[in-house]
Amino acid sequence: MKVKNQDASGVVFLRGKKTLLRPLEEEDLPLLTKWINDREVTRYLVTYLPMSAEKERDWFMKLKDNKDEVTLGVCLLDGTLIGVMGTHHIDWKDRITTTGAFIGDKRYWGKGYGTDAKMQLLNYCFNTLNLRKIQSRVIAFNARSLAYSKHCGYQIEGTSRLETFKEGKYWDVVDLGLFREEWLPYWEKYLKGKL
Ligand SMILES: CC(C)(COP(=O)(O)OP(=O)(O)OC[C@H]1O[C@@H](n2cnc3c(N)ncnc32)[C@H](O)[C@@H]1OP(=O)(O)O)[C@@H](O)C(=O)NCCC(=O)NCCS
Repeated sequence: MKVKNQDASGVVFLRGKKTLLRPLEEEDLPLLTKWINDREVTRYLVTYLPMSAEKERDWFMKLKDNKDEVTLGVCLLDGTLIGVMGTHHIDWKDRITTTGAFIGDKRYWGKGYGTDAKMQLLNYCFNTLNLRKIQSRVIAFNARSLAYSKHCGYQIEGTSRLETFKEGKYWDVVDLGLFREEWLPYWEKYLKGKL
């Protein structure tokens, strides 16, 4: 059966050059459940347990009322959902947050969609939510994620040594951070189509 992943409503929350970001809807859950059980995707993520449709629905329901998280679907310009991107644990006092993302449809890895969507999310974080610092954590073997994060301006702040156990061994986790002033030149480049 062909998976239907076209957003019927046409809702757009953030509009990039290559991607659209929109709120997730209940009808997206079967596709999200498929992706979050794909170990080629989750090898790069914190999650590691099987995720039933019911558990995924619980996650989605909790998300709706959580004002300290912003989670969006990442779509192609034609509305096809390809992944999820968001920012978590927003600390409204220190004005810090931690971003995370995955493109579940692996055909779209390494084609610039992540960078485009992340620049839109960062613009929202800095210029709408008035956040001051954006953090991210990447497992050291995840070269693609490190590359796209650096593309968007994130700076390496340090390494948490041998912090996470994946595929039979412990791996370093790279701690990234980005202030608005550091990000603005990247945004200028992005707006000029030069990022
Ligand atoms: C991480 C992720 C969101 C990035 O999105 P993306 O659309 O693939 O990223 P982009 O295409 O915008 O940028 C990827 C960069 O990595 C480079 N790259 C692509 N494939 C690569 C590979 N196998 N190894 C190293 N770098 C690679 C690209 O060349 C590009 O950098 P460049 O433009 O400087 O050349 C996406 O790849 C993904 O979902 N991966 C699986 C889950 C994951 O890792 N999530 C993040 C956890 S921290």
